[in-house]
Amino acid sequence: MIDEILSLVREHEDWRWKNCINLIPSENVTSLAVRELLSSDMGCRYTSREKFYMGTKFLDEIELYGEELAKEVFNAETADLRPLSGHIADWIFLSTFTKPGDKIICIKPEDGGYPGIWNEGLAGLLNLKVAPFPFSKEKMNIEVEKAKEVIQTEKPKIVLFGASLFLFPHPVSEIAKVAKENNAIIGYDGSHVLGLIAGKQFQDPLREGAHVLLGSTHKTFFGPQGGILLAYERYGEEMKRLIHPRFVDNAHWNRIAALTLALAEMKEFGKSYAQQVICNAKKLAEALADYGFSVMCREYGFTSSHQVILNYGGYKQGRKIARKLERVNIIVDSGVRIGTCEVTRRGMKEGEMEKIAELIKRAMDGENEEKIRTEVRRMAKEFQEINYCFKN
Ligand SMILES: Cc1ncc(COP(=O)(O)O)c(C=O)c1O
Repeated sequence: MIDEILSLVREHEDWRWKNCINLIPSENVTSLAVRELLSSDMGCRYTSREKFYMGTKFLDEIELYGEELAKEVFNAETADLRPLSGHIADWIFLSTFTKPGDKIICIKPEDGGYPGIWNEGLAGLLNLKVAPFPFSKEKMNIEVEKAKEVIQTEKPKIVLFGASLFLFPHPVSEIAKVAKENNAIIGYDGSHVLGLIAGKQFQDPLREGAHVLLGSTHKTFFGPQGGILLAYERYGEEMKRLIHPRFVDNAHWNRIAALTLALAEMKEFGKSYAQQVICNAKKLAEALADYGFSVMCREYGFTSSHQVILNYGGYKQGRKIARKLERVNIIVDSGVRIGTCEVTRRGMKEGEMEKIAELIKRAMDGENEEKIRTEVRRMAKEFQEINYCFKN
């Protein structure tokens, strides 16, 4: 039994790391040091605000250390590392500032918004009414003037920026004034672009008018899987008051230690990492478009984030493409969203993006799969080192 369990994990690691090129934009790899902290004794321990548990002095210290570092990296007045995921961070934010029947505005799933916020997800759970942001599919962005009108008529309690399909910065500063005049609280779900924000290469939601920036810590932000809340004091303190015991009991202290180390890496290497992620995405988009793929937003430079979107009209067609690429060890989702965060962390640059585009083209043209797989494997083996982290 033990052998079977261990071998499943090893086979997975061997396949995904040594044999595949991973282009899923919501995934990344942690440094070995971050990974090591995930398996530390901290993962076996409890703390509580009321000091019910003894033996927590180093855990308490790491929490404070992590919060201070997060405040520095994001220039935020408060930080909370306890949310166990981006979804839970969304839940804490929405639940703290709404009551049943309130209205929120965000991007609808058909336009690339995060489905977990909509009626099937948190809005349904919390009994909120959701109105969609007016959205231009052509520009893949919120329509500013129409959005202002919707805010004036709907008077939402929450205006929530951010999305799962996320190519360009959202017009936070353009909309924040009207939202504030109408007493809305402004949130920004930066789950996808948090590492680009930390590296100061995308947008700065807290300076542009958002009261709260929240998100996952494992997509462009290269930490362990988890969530984070960053906010101005008034809003941050209100969320902190409710997190425990409403949304999180044990906050998983190994994760928080690992996240703290990832924050330190981001502080040191975030800028060059984020710049390269975006350069790689632009190059990959361009190369794919040159091969004749239908890449979204050509007229707008394809992307300013880590994502490239192939527009094949929905998940059904997208899944066919994703399956075909999986057979040659190129891993994407059914969006088809393609992300450059992990390959950048592996040290790949523009030249490798051109090669990846070529491999995708040949796979889609039906060339011999074993031949392409061999080339993908060779590339994966060549880029085994994790970059933008402390070397020892
Ligand atoms: C915009 C957005 N918010 C939240 C989430 C949920 O994040 P997590 O998987 O960390 O719960 C996702 C998931 O991909 C997302 O795209």
